[in-house]
Amino acid sequence: MSLFDPADGAFLADPYPAFALLRALAPVHDHPLLGTPVAVSHAACSALLRGRDLGRIWADAEPAAEFGAFNLLHRNSLLEREGEPHHRLRGLVAGAFNRGHTARLEPWVRGLAGRLVDDLAAGVAADGRADLIAGLAATLPVEVIAELLGVAGPEREALRGWSNTIVAMYEPGVDDGRRAAAERASAEFVDALRGLAEHRRRHPGEDLVSDLVAAGVDSDELVGTAALLLMAGHEATVNVIGNGVLALLRHPVQWSVLATAPLAPAVEELIRYDPPLQLFERTAVVDTVVAGHPVPAGTRIAALLGAAARDPQVFERPDELDVTRIHNPHLGFGLGVHYCLGAPLARLEVAAALDALRTRMRGLTLAAEPQRRPSFVMRGLRTLPVTT
Ligand code: HEM
Repeated sequence: MSLFDPADGAFLADPYPAFALLRALAPVHDHPLLGTPVAVSHAACSALLRGRDLGRIWADAEPAAEFGAFNLLHRNSLLEREGEPHHRLRGLVAGAFNRGHTARLEPWVRGLAGRLVDDLAAGVAADGRADLIAGLAATLPVEVIAELLGVAGPEREALRGWSNTIVAMYEPGVDDGRRAAAERASAEFVDALRGLAEHRRRHPGEDLVSDLVAAGVDSDELVGTAALLLMAGHEATVNVIGNGVLALLRHPVQWSVLATAPLAPAVEELIRYDPPLQLFERTAVVDTVVAGHPVPAGTRIAALLGAAARDPQVFERPDELDVTRIHNPHLGFGLGVHYCLGAPLARLEVAAALDALRTRMRGLTLAAEPQRRPSFVMRGLRTLPVTT
């Protein structure tokens, strides 16, 4: 049978019917276009993410000589390590987070979300419509992560471009032009992060980079970890806000329920309903089996989080958006040793954005069809025109 084509526009517009067909057939499928088998059931994806026989094993982008900065950023990132180095780095980053950075940022995040939504409302008042991606979804997370890490000045402006250009490399079948652009962006990013780390070494502040420097993280690891936080920490959050608001506007009853409903379950439901990160890979470190599918040592296998999110074995009425859903063990933040370290901060940001929208732009509706980014792994919108 033919599996989905990750570059097909119709599939990207709504991949969930294809995922349902696959799930009904088997928990794991070979996928020649992606070049790996894909796990599609919730149980198979969970087993894959938790599996001790599988890990995130970084393979340098080739030719390695042309991707020096891109490979340096990733090879040293905690997300791409396993075993002792991962445990040590994760402990340092988690320790820094636990020193209260999320709580420190909370009033600031809420204030910023309110100001951005006021500006969005002013845009609608002036022009009849405004773009919620540019005005809120893409702005809030990058500002928050820059604040968390203490990135200021021109680097703060450049962050979004670097991050967007680098994460394009995670898509299947990326062309040479984009690969070269990702390397150029990585090189600029590495320079900026080294400068930041050096500055914080001499002038420590309240930010997370200062905490990591004080904890003795070495220079390459600091660059890799700061880059991971900047990219992981904002790309997914942008897309949860964009995908989530679109889902709410396409389900006006749910939007009206949210006027008074608690925000925490709604945030989880938006992440489940249309996950911003659709696929993660692991490599087998020894011969192993995932949901009956043999995975020989050294080969890769992918977890399709988007398919797991709609598994009827786990979720009641999985294709329905229900902002009051209580039983919601989605895998949107991953599972196991790589479980998202930024989940509390991401939840705070999405809740702050929704709260500002429901109180300041109650009559929010779609002004036109949104444009989708032509990417599969990072699922999100380019524009979301709204009005009131
Ligand atoms: C709603 C937004 C977010 C989503 C959906 C998300 C999702 C994920 C997922 C699925 C993973 C695991 C990847 C894997 O298992 O291979 C992960 C890891 C990670 N995330 Fe997030 N993330 C979000 C926001 C953030 C934020 C705001 C930060 C930091 C400020 C962050 C930092 C990290 C880090 C450091 C890891 C690596 C953990 C490790 O390897 O041990 N994320 N995230």
